[in-house]
Amino acid sequence: MIKVAIMGYGTIGSGVYEILERNREIVSRAAGQEIQVAYILDLREFPGSAVENKIVHDFDVIRDDDEVKIVVETMGGLEPAYSFVKACLESGKHVATSNKALVAAHGTELLAIAREKQVNFLFEASVGGGIPIIRPLYRCLMGEKIEEITGILNGTTNFILTKMDKEGTSFQWALKEAQALGYAERNPEADVEGHDTCRKLAILIAMVTGKEVNYEEISTEGITEITDVDFKYAAALDTSIKLVGSSHMEAGKVHAWVAPVMIDRDHPLYAVSDVYNGILVKGTMLGTTMYYGSGAGKLPTASAVVADILEAAKEMDSNIPLGWTEEKQEISPIGESVHRYFVRVSGTYEDRKDMVETVFGKSRVVELPEMEEFAFLTGPMKESRFLENLEILKVELTAEYQKVIQVIRAE
Ligand code: HSE
Repeated sequence: MIKVAIMGYGTIGSGVYEILERNREIVSRAAGQEIQVAYILDLREFPGSAVENKIVHDFDVIRDDDEVKIVVETMGGLEPAYSFVKACLESGKHVATSNKALVAAHGTELLAIAREKQVNFLFEASVGGGIPIIRPLYRCLMGEKIEEITGILNGTTNFILTKMDKEGTSFQWALKEAQALGYAERNPEADVEGHDTCRKLAILIAMVTGKEVNYEEISTEGITEITDVDFKYAAALDTSIKLVGSSHMEAGKVHAWVAPVMIDRDHPLYAVSDVYNGILVKGTMLGTTMYYGSGAGKLPTASAVVADILEAAKEMDSNIPLGWTEEKQEISPIGESVHRYFVRVSGTYEDRKDMVETVFGKSRVVELPEMEEFAFLTGPMKESRFLENLEILKVELTAEYQKVIQVIRAE
């Protein structure tokens, strides 16, 4: 029998307990022995519930019990999660976490401690919720040279954007529904401002390059400025708007960014809707693969944590070589990335045709009925060049008391 402790009995932690109970036989067979939850660390009591007698409020009880071999961290946030996880690894316990903020900020150190202590620090649930993506990277694709990872990595924002697209609902209403369904972070700013996607992307890049990624170097834009009118243009262009995290690895350089992007109907990520995530992984031998499934939510995310418990149970006496070292992976500035750009401009196109063509060349133009504005879609160009051209356009527009209303990158 292997004793397990769960730290944090919120949405994901209670999901882990539920799966271990409901799938008891499957789990025991996979582990080769029984998995028993010995303690649940939480500030609350849960009187009358099945876990009432397992609740502890003192972390030391878990750390000091040598029979507890695997600890699940589903508390979220950096503290006290970081101190507790570090102490568990240092005490020779395996750790499985769903906490991407923790992995992105302290993964380098925690992986190093796990290596030194010959235990495992596992974080399948930290990216893509229930989708297997970390394990494919260190197991199935270990012979591949990965040149691109691009994905919809946040369920909450994908849920919100899908509602805005398909039902025309407001941003705030859709966010409230996502929160009620247990998808959103405790502070939804991490979702809607793109920080959650950024941290997940940093973890994926670090997995691929084997080097530490400072997520603060990844240019990150959220979805709070996206409006219903943008979706009307998107529909006219046969596209949808998705929050995308993208990385390209070439010749030691990594280009990476997070931003809302207009995606064509024939792009594989176009069909990734609601709380689902989709992650494209392109290898030089493999070509393109896509990993798809529930990107957030109680049981899907808990399912990935349970898989990590079983991975640890099977590798009880050794450290699986995975992750990254303290060597730094530089991220190229977004100015070097190439995109097409969707630009909304006030006034009529007829009056500004020459101006737009002079600055950006021939572009695809969209005019919606009864709107005192128009939009155009540029060809592919480096972001630095686009921004220079945009400044020129803005100066010319200001002289005519007009302005650029919106800019969205396009695939
Ligand atoms: N808030 C996150 C999301 C939870 O919506 O994707 C899963 O990481």
